[in-house]
Amino acid sequence: MKILVIHGPNLNLLGTREPQIYGHTTLDEINALLKDTADAAGAEIEFFQSNHEGAIIDRLQEARGVVDAAVLNPGALGHYSIALRDALAAVDYPVVEVHLSNIYSREAFRRQTVTAGVVQGQITGFGPLSYRLGLLAALELARNRKKEKAP
Ligand code: DQA
Repeated sequence: MKILVIHGPNLNLLGTREPQIYGHTTLDEINALLKDTADAAGAEIEFFQSNHEGAIIDRLQEARGVVDAAVLNPGALGHYSIALRDALAAVDYPVVEVHLSNIYSREAFRRQTVTAGVVQGQITGFGPLSYRLGLLAALELARNRKKEKAP
C-alpha cells in the first residue's frame, strides 16, 4: 500500500508560523509521526510540500495509478483553488483532506473549502492528530480498495 501526504502553502513554516493557531510541532515532526503510523501498518508513505498550486496539482496527477490513497492539507488553496478541486476530481485514488486548525470556527473565508465536494472526507481542528486520523482513514480506504480490486 502506498500513501501520499501533501502539505500545501506555508505548512513548511509549521512550528514557528502563528503557533497560537497551528502549534509548535514542525512539519518534520508531523511527517515522522506519520511515518511511524505507516510503518506500523506496513504501508509505504511519501511526503510532498509545496507553496505552489501548480506543483501540488502536478504531484496529484503523477500519483494517478501509483498510490492507493492520499492525505492532503491544502492550506489556503482549499478555500479558493478551483484548479486544485478539478485535479482532485480527476484522481483515481481517495483523498482525505486535513486541517490542523478548526476551519469552521475561524474567519468566514475559511469556513468553506471548494475541495470538500471532491474529497472522501475532512478532518479539521485536531492539530497534528488531524494528520494522524487522516492517515488512518487513508489506510483503511486503501485497504478496502485493494480488497475490491483483488480477484
Ligand atoms: C490550514 C487552515 C487554512 O485556512 C490555512 O490557510 C492554512 C492551514 C490548517 O491546517 O489549519 O494554511 O489548512
